[in-house]
Amino acid sequence: MTIHRLAMIVWIAHVLAQPCEPGFGGPDCSVSRRSIALLRHHDPYDGLKLRPPRLTGWSKVADSAYFKLISLANATVAVEVGVWRGLSASLLAKSMRDCGKGGVLFAVDTWLGAIEFWNLRFSHGKPDPARDMELINGYPSVFYTFLSNMVHENVSKFVVPLPMTSAMGASLLARARVKIDLIHLDAAHEYGDIKQDIELWLPLLARCGVLLGDDYMKNWPGVKRAVNELAHEKPWLRVVTSGYGVKWYARRRECEMTPPANISSSPPSPSSRLSPGIVEPFKPPTSLPQVYRNRKRNRNPNPKVEGVQLD
Ligand SMILES: C[S@@+](CC[C@H](N)C(=O)[O-])C[C@H]1O[C@@H](n2cnc3c(N)ncnc32)[C@H](O)[C@@H]1O
Repeated sequence: MTIHRLAMIVWIAHVLAQPCEPGFGGPDCSVSRRSIALLRHHDPYDGLKLRPPRLTGWSKVADSAYFKLISLANATVAVEVGVWRGLSASLLAKSMRDCGKGGVLFAVDTWLGAIEFWNLRFSHGKPDPARDMELINGYPSVFYTFLSNMVHENVSKFVVPLPMTSAMGASLLARARVKIDLIHLDAAHEYGDIKQDIELWLPLLARCGVLLGDDYMKNWPGVKRAVNELAHEKPWLRVVTSGYGVKWYARRRECEMTPPANISSSPPSPSSRLSPGIVEPFKPPTSLPQVYRNRKRNRNPNPKVEGVQLD
């Protein structure tokens, strides 16, 4: 090998090792808002009429779970499908920020709510403040609260809103040839919807990326069924349904060879009736940034672990 070629390799390795700017991700930092043709010349936060902070949501896991999963996926490109006011989006974005490698989070949501937001039967006939869509003339305006929250949480540089359906978001990012390190699925929870979301988004995952989802629990049987089917249908994936409250996540088995120090990969207990894809790998975090320790906002420090057992 000539000295010139060696120097070139060293230079390329050096360039690739550089962290990206906030709002940029991917191996060569080329993925950003500008990857989406329409947003190339448009900043969604420009001229925003800031609303007061209103960051309610349903994050039932410790904030540190997001940091650990972002670290596991080594994520600089992430997507959240189902964003609402941006609680989990802000935690994902802060995790990327704290990993110090830059990053971009595409936030895909119609901001029109899901069936349980419109049908008061789900909230015993009374309006539910957590699901208040901030209707103006019958049309939800919560999108502007979400944008404002991202500004208040100081993560607007990282978060790119894509106000569209899950299917359109997947199609748009596929056409932009974006490979995603971490995908968080938390949109509609009916069986057909989550099944479709898994099918739409899995092909966009980077090789050792993490597909993460919410609400693997009794109250959402459709989510449990779709995730159990994923474990059976794709045995090359390791599907994990315990350890992070009601979160589940899936990753190629071949990528689990070297788990980070704070994520154990202990084998499933022989006595339990587990699917080949379901394991119990959780150990409490050992080394996390201070910001993730003893957070007041961690609503449930002892999350109920659901469903390592298949129905
Ligand atoms: C449970 S909330 C998301 C909560 C959020 N991840 C958090 O933790 O704060 C569900 C969101 O999914 C969105 N949604 C439902 N169906 C959707 C679809 N087909 N495409 C895009 N967004 C959808 C709703 O508008 C709603 O904002």
